[in-house]
Amino acid sequence: MNEQASGPTLDEIVALCKRRGFIFPSSEIYGGVGSTYDYGHYGVLLKNNVKNEWWRAMLTDRDDIVAIDSAIIQNPRVWEASGHLEGFSDPLVQCLGKCKKRWRLDHLQEAIAAEGGDPDGEIRCPQCGGELSEPREFNLMFKTHVGPVAESGAEVYLRPETAQGIFINFKNVLSFSRKKPPFGIAQIGKSFRNEITPGNFIFRTREFEQMEMEFFCTPDDASKWHEHWLGERMRWYTELGIRPDNLILRPHEADELSHYSSATSDIEYLFPMGYSELEGIANRGNFDLTQHMKHSGEKLEYFDQATGDRYIPHVIEPAAGVDRATLAFLVDAYEVEEVDGRERTVLRLHPKLAPVKVAVMPLVNKDGMPERAREVFESLRHRIGAEYDSGGSIGKRYRRQDEIGTPWGITIDGDTAVDDTVTLRDRDSLTQERVPIDGLAELLLEKLAADWTSPKLDA
Ligand code: GAP
Repeated sequence: MNEQASGPTLDEIVALCKRRGFIFPSSEIYGGVGSTYDYGHYGVLLKNNVKNEWWRAMLTDRDDIVAIDSAIIQNPRVWEASGHLEGFSDPLVQCLGKCKKRWRLDHLQEAIAAEGGDPDGEIRCPQCGGELSEPREFNLMFKTHVGPVAESGAEVYLRPETAQGIFINFKNVLSFSRKKPPFGIAQIGKSFRNEITPGNFIFRTREFEQMEMEFFCTPDDASKWHEHWLGERMRWYTELGIRPDNLILRPHEADELSHYSSATSDIEYLFPMGYSELEGIANRGNFDLTQHMKHSGEKLEYFDQATGDRYIPHVIEPAAGVDRATLAFLVDAYEVEEVDGRERTVLRLHPKLAPVKVAVMPLVNKDGMPERAREVFESLRHRIGAEYDSGGSIGKRYRRQDEIGTPWGITIDGDTAVDDTVTLRDRDSLTQERVPIDGLAELLLEKLAADWTSPKLDA
């Protein structure tokens, strides 16, 4: 997709993430390791909130899904059965000219088609114009060895998706969870892909986290549940503040479908580089359970005692990336505006996603204010994500908190000692009100639980 985004540039997001300690390049003191990132304090808190909201939507808000946490290293036969050993590859071409750069042929073709060119015509290296090699299929799985001897019998792979860890546990889950179709199994965890062209910050990396749920149902109900999950997943993003105008649902063309899928729609977000996949929602049919039955010899069927039916359940899979979702929330929340003649950068994150919910700040570091502010902070921190912030001028502290997306700021000033009230500042409206310390935690928890819509929607 080549639609232009009007929001921040990726460079602005990368700079903010570095400046405020959300995300930075990994192994920086050794010169980095391409397209690999570490999450700092606020990045960890934000990413955890994204994951918690996903768990909430999957587990707390419904009772037909159970959780699992499967191993990253699995029996290599899992990948034989799933088709990853044979088919999980991208077409790689290399520049034979000056730069020798490697490219994904399908990405080059997509870019040419987006500009109205012929994707099947001759393609030259976009960097130096050199001739390109014949395409070769490049398997994306990382290979390693188990045990001290690097012999072929001990070869294993880092999982390229969390989904297979769910399918191979289908029988275990059925036997202990007392669930029957329709029901789902959800998992969050790291996946690894030796991507040919990682890039666009945390959008495409070689090590990333996925949030995947496999929803098992009767073959007849599969289309209905596919529709259901398309709606649910779109709602999840918009309820957490993503502006609906920046999301589209794009059904895959027949020639784009993965080997396992009979229908897939991607939720795409208008990232700075244009509309790109945020999450895929696939109808996997009974492909995976059938394959694992064949390869393992185990029966992975469901026997419905009420009807006497025995069948291999069909599967609907909403598969999201934690890092991509985090990037989308950051991009959508980022805004630069002018306040009283000064520029302010603010992350208008949904309060539920904000790394810090409330900053407690003494106006000046004297006259007993720090001590009282510390007491207020202590009274809040176990009930709501609070941060004590006493460094620099109050303006500087507000700017810092705005940039990390803190929805509320509390200042302790001279009047606090007189009437035990504080000033409560709202990140979005910039209103300031005087509120009593007594009942402050309850007031903030009420605000956190209230509905929230991005102020950008009213703009
Ligand atoms: N089990 C199906 C599956 O893995 P996918 O479309 O390959 O489907 C699902 O991956 C999601 O995982 C993507 O929509 C994306 O959000 C995330 N993802 C995939 N590859 C990624 C990468 N290299 N870096 C970051 N996120 C990635």
